Amino acid sequence: MARRNKIYEGKAKILYEGPEPGTLVQYFKDDATAYNAEKHDVIDGKGVLNNRLSEFFMTGLNAVGVPTHFIRRLNMREQLVRACEIIPIEVVVRNVAAGSMAKRLGIEEGTPLPRPIVEYYYKDDALGDPLVTEEHIAAFGWASQQDMDDMVSLALRVNDFLSGVMTAVGIRLVDFKIEVGRHYEGDFQRLIVADEISPDSCRLWDIQTGQRLDKDVFRKDLGNLSDAYTEVARRLGVMPKNAAAGTKPHLIN
Ligand SMILES: Nc1ncnc2c1ncn2[C@@H]1O[C@H](COP(=O)(O)OP(=O)(O)OP(=O)(O)O)[C@@H](O)[C@H]1O
Ligand SMILES: [Mg+2]
Repeated sequence: MARRNKIYEGKAKILYEGPEPGTLVQYFKDDATAYNAEKHDVIDGKGVLNNRLSEFFMTGLNAVGVPTHFIRRLNMREQLVRACEIIPIEVVVRNVAAGSMAKRLGIEEGTPLPRPIVEYYYKDDALGDPLVTEEHIAAFGWASQQDMDDMVSLALRVNDFLSGVMTAVGIRLVDFKIEVGRHYEGDFQRLIVADEISPDSCRLWDIQTGQRLDKDVFRKDLGNLSDAYTEVARRLGVMPKNAAAGTKPHLIN
């Protein structure tokens, strides 16, 4: 079999050319990075968990009519997705103050927000993904006003869906980010949810205990990241209930 064409290797995933035109294979690595890759580690099994969790969320979104790039999962670490032109803006939705917003505005982490707040961050690692406004996005031509309206609408629909799914399993959706891509269908183009939705891109707190079940476990050294993600997957019924973190075949000798 011919070797696949690697299109892009990022911090957490690799993109390969897909089997049909207009498709890509997204491979989930075990690498975890934070603080703009200053902190890096390899977490056994993280890629497998995120592949399954992103499949779960994207499939659910597709089912309720929110368009995503997800086509189907191929194996433990790979999924087939629609290729799109990624808009260089990360859209963040916040329900509870945390992370950079809590710090920037001096709000105590955990303070519920009166309404979901949508923020844009310009995707540029060298600049540390700075917060930008619609004025910047329009002036520099990163997206049109129509695109921004569509991005906000997609992000809020994702928020409604994800909040509901999480609340049902005792998890508070504090915030999350999505990436949006431009997808061409014949003469038409529309914006779809791309990249991944996983505990790497969300803040998830246990409703009862406040325990962190997301990448903050890694950012802030709060414990075992793979255990936290496994707990999310277990509650959502994504992994077999008795699957232990890190269970995998071991070679003898
Ligand atoms: N459907 C898609 N079509 C094209 N590109 C995609 C699609 N989904 C995700 N991507 C891009 O694939 C890459 C996934 O790799 P990864 O998440 O590891 O990147 P990263 O290190 O976070 O870097 P980046 O700053 O580029 O996001 C990202 O650049 C993401 O924007
Ligand atoms: Mg990424």
